[in-house]
Amino acid sequence: MSLSIIGRAVQESVTLKLNETAAILRAKGEPVIHLGIGEPKSKAPLDALIAAAGSLSSGDVRYTPADGIPALKQAIVRYTGDMYKRIVSPENVIASSGAKQAIMVALQAILNPQDEVVFPAPYWVSYPEMVKLCGAVPVPVIPEDGSFHPTIQDIERVTGSYTKAIIINSPNNPSGVMYSEQFIAEVVEFCDKKSIYLIMDDIYHRLLFNGKKAISCYKFLNKSIDESKLIVINGVSKQYAMTGFRIGWAVANRKLIKAMTNIQSHQTSGPSVVLQLAAVGAINGIQSGVDNLCLTLENNTRVMMEQLNAFEGVRAVQPDGTFYCFVDFSHYEKDSTKLSYFLLDKVRVITVPGIEFGLEGYLRLSTCGSIKDITQGIERIKWALDPNSPNELFIGERKLVRDWL
Ligand SMILES: Cc1ncc(COP(=O)(O)O)c(C=O)c1O
Repeated sequence: MSLSIIGRAVQESVTLKLNETAAILRAKGEPVIHLGIGEPKSKAPLDALIAAAGSLSSGDVRYTPADGIPALKQAIVRYTGDMYKRIVSPENVIASSGAKQAIMVALQAILNPQDEVVFPAPYWVSYPEMVKLCGAVPVPVIPEDGSFHPTIQDIERVTGSYTKAIIINSPNNPSGVMYSEQFIAEVVEFCDKKSIYLIMDDIYHRLLFNGKKAISCYKFLNKSIDESKLIVINGVSKQYAMTGFRIGWAVANRKLIKAMTNIQSHQTSGPSVVLQLAAVGAINGIQSGVDNLCLTLENNTRVMMEQLNAFEGVRAVQPDGTFYCFVDFSHYEKDSTKLSYFLLDKVRVITVPGIEFGLEGYLRLSTCGSIKDITQGIERIKWALDPNSPNELFIGERKLVRDWL
């Protein structure tokens, strides 16, 4: 069978694959703890459900404009005004099937083969593959100081004449770290000066802890959106726990939005009207669910950090937000893929290998589950790795005997 260069180059999404594995094992009755999951467990907002139900019961479910229905674009305009303090017009907005598609069509609209796209590591698993899908070259950069927070010098170090875009994701998947206001200001200024596209992936920007507030990149943009190369990405998946609704968006200059719309019009057309109306319901509706989700995640993260801090040999950085902890397990095993499969095999705990996010020796652990998932998950991992733990562990009725240390 002959496959294209892109068909051969692009890897499957490891996180989606792990979700599948968890579902298969659970269906077989295996006592799986899923610490790999990237979606909140809370229900979608009632306003979203009512809007979607209303649309469905009307039976009037048709194609929509390729860039989204006017009501959703208007809701995103208002959201941008409220959250980012920036007035934009509907022509600056495209609604897509998830933030994933919004990023993808943005990359397709700006990249030529061999162009380079810079992003700090650790990074979201899809960035390198999306860049490759455009025939372009991903350029991850690991912060020189060994932290999860890049500096502008890190970015400058790998930026050259081939650099077409920089992607910044803060708070970050997988580290949970929010980048400083100074860094955001510097990167906005740097991209503006060099005429490089800056993609701000803000999908987690409302999921911050301890009263922290998201930083609006527009604060540092001294020109109109239509004169700038700033692309802001957001969506309903994480903040409203609406991952399955597949609605995300981009806000950018209208010329770029038009190009993205043209691409999307041949790719998928506009997202489903039912789901767009649900997104309108969520964005314009009662927002208390977002605050509740933040409180739950903050508490879960506190418990996760307590467990990890009491775990000898592992190193965890306090997340500022999101629902992930990115934990250094290299003391036990440097090959994160091997370690992740070992934990799945021996104690049925799903984790995501750090190498998928560009850093070896780490595992991404999710705080989306229950407190019980977190405490029992870490307990099982500890049991599997710590040579001083007892020889046996009971998972319900099942007795595990350690025969590997
Ligand atoms: C950093 C980041 N950006 C974008 C997305 C995509 O979100 P959506 O579900 O809206 O496609 C994700 C999902 O995991 C993510 O972690």
